[in-house]
Amino acid sequence: MVLNTCVFDAYGTLFDVNAAARIAANEPNRELFKKVWPEVSNTWRMKQLQYTWLRSMTDSYIDFWSITQNSLDYALEAHKLHNDLALKERLLALYWELQPYSEVSQMLKELKKNGIQTAILSNGSLEMLSGAVRSSNLYEVIDEIISVETVKIFKPNARVYMQVENVIGCSKSEVLFVSSNGWDIAGAAGFGFETAWVNRLQDPIDRLPHKPTHIVGDLKSIPSFF
Ligand code: 2OP
Repeated sequence: MVLNTCVFDAYGTLFDVNAAARIAANEPNRELFKKVWPEVSNTWRMKQLQYTWLRSMTDSYIDFWSITQNSLDYALEAHKLHNDLALKERLLALYWELQPYSEVSQMLKELKKNGIQTAILSNGSLEMLSGAVRSSNLYEVIDEIISVETVKIFKPNARVYMQVENVIGCSKSEVLFVSSNGWDIAGAAGFGFETAWVNRLQDPIDRLPHKPTHIVGDLKSIPSFF
């Protein structure tokens, strides 16, 4: 079957999950946070993902925005910053409008020019994802936003990837799935999508049952796979 649909993970793939902490660290009166923002951002992200996996395993789903707030609370306390409520509120506000990576807009425009259907498939709630798409002016080039909210379980559960077929009405063999998260790529490849792993940081490949079709350093080459 010919590929005609490109489905993107959101956080870490289209949107820079470290942008919230990086911007807040460079604002006035943030001297202490400026020293530790990369560690806080990494702890925030790792806890966010851990909570999605653990809640899927224990059938205790809550929405991704609650998980994002809970994981931020953990990260701030781990760095003794949990009393800085202004910082917490600022980080959450910035997370709602995460910056896209620099190549995203041009890449999506090229896919649309080539007649490719585009979609987001994300753990994010529909409200979070709409906020990020709107603040990044990507509405014209993203055809569908698919959230795990409809199936109340997180990636890499197969029910999440199945949503692509149900919502878009395509078959899995028509889909290229793009993610910066190796575990998400393994889940999507196991489901039956062709996959492109965006390995921005030259990380090792995950030791998981399914490997990516393509490995790229950024999103610029994605249109060339159609
Ligand atoms: C997403 O689902 C995995 O956080 C990533 O957007």
